[in-house]
Amino acid sequence: MTQTIRVNLDARSYDVHVGAGLLARAGELIAPFAPTGRVFIVTDQNVARHHRAALVASLDAAGLTNWTITLAPGEGSKSFEGLELLSRHLLQAGINRKDLIIAFGGGVIGDLAGLTAGLIKRGVDFVQIPTTLLAQVDSSVGGKTAIDTPEGKNLVGLINQPKLVIADPSLLTTLPERERRAGYAEIVKLGLISDAAFFQWCEQNAPAIIAGEAEPLTHAIAKAIAFKAGVVERDETEQGERALLNLGHTFAHALEGHAGYDGALLHGEAVAAGMSLAFQLSAALGLCSEADAKRVRTHLTQAGFITDLRQLPGAPYDPDRLMQLAAADKKAQAGKLTFILARAIGRAFIEPDTPADVVRELLHIETRS
Ligand code: NAD
Ligand code: GLY
Repeated sequence: MTQTIRVNLDARSYDVHVGAGLLARAGELIAPFAPTGRVFIVTDQNVARHHRAALVASLDAAGLTNWTITLAPGEGSKSFEGLELLSRHLLQAGINRKDLIIAFGGGVIGDLAGLTAGLIKRGVDFVQIPTTLLAQVDSSVGGKTAIDTPEGKNLVGLINQPKLVIADPSLLTTLPERERRAGYAEIVKLGLISDAAFFQWCEQNAPAIIAGEAEPLTHAIAKAIAFKAGVVERDETEQGERALLNLGHTFAHALEGHAGYDGALLHGEAVAAGMSLAFQLSAALGLCSEADAKRVRTHLTQAGFITDLRQLPGAPYDPDRLMQLAAADKKAQAGKLTFILARAIGRAFIEPDTPADVVRELLHIETRS
């Protein structure tokens, strides 16, 4: 069964279709957005190996002429080099202003192809067919696109909304379990932000979601997308509420920056550790109970995440370097540290002036061997 969630953004509104088997219908769903009948698939080698043939068959059946540009997998493609490579491939393949780009991959492909679509020929429409759990529940919806630079993650980008998102959970069966777990971090995040009952549901269903069981997986994907769509509708350009989606991300971006972007520490793994730290910080500041912080950490550990920074891939972490990276995060304003903190599970809020000494002390304690 297909569920359709509308993201209402005036002229930039679009549908997100969620359902097992939707890839076979991609051509028919995409055709209305391809006025020239010409589409350019941007993907990576892993996705192409497993799923390109099915996508091409569906596009062919709908009469859409298609080209495929296959990039190297991994965060390294989300770079100025990746942007140049993709742009030049598209130009050499003869892309025109009214053609359509299909971002067919995880968050790396979605972020890079979405940014390139916004820039090339001053803007070509694009659709998202996310193939990782993280991309289905988070990165394909909401229009954030970016590349990384040596100065930090996602620092060069655009808000560029897709014309359509097709989330087919059956594509996730070929995804390594570690990647499904990383995506789960962005699902449980929504419970921690604003829905204690959903967090409780996650406590019961995490193993089935991470194992890729169709029913709880599809339920969680649709729930996460509906939640995100609502936030994006109310605050597309992150003037306020949308920043709540960054729960755990200031810590996560610092951990990822410290570890390097070589795949040793996945984004979702960093987010899980970051969310645990955010609740510990909230408890240290007397905002939430120690019991809630412990419950969050226990759940994430039981779901298979490492929340102990001394054991996390990339360890040992230098707390002073983590502080520097947190301060350089794009959410930091005028030397103040912005964190998403919580008064309880399901009651997160934005704190733009977090006391740096408490953050520093927490990081010193958590990284001490
Ligand atoms: P990814 O795109 O690197 O994909 C993870 C790995 O899985 C890659 O090796 C890929 O080749 C492989 N893969 C993808 N789909 C597959 C499939 N169906 N079967 C087998 N292998 C498959 O990583 P990701 O976790 O999807 O995305 C991480 C990126 O997303 C980060 O750069 C992060 O900053 C970004 N992100 C963006 C947003 C946003 O709002 N734009 C939100 C969250 C994260
Ligand atoms: N992933 C956070 C956002 O889209 O705002």
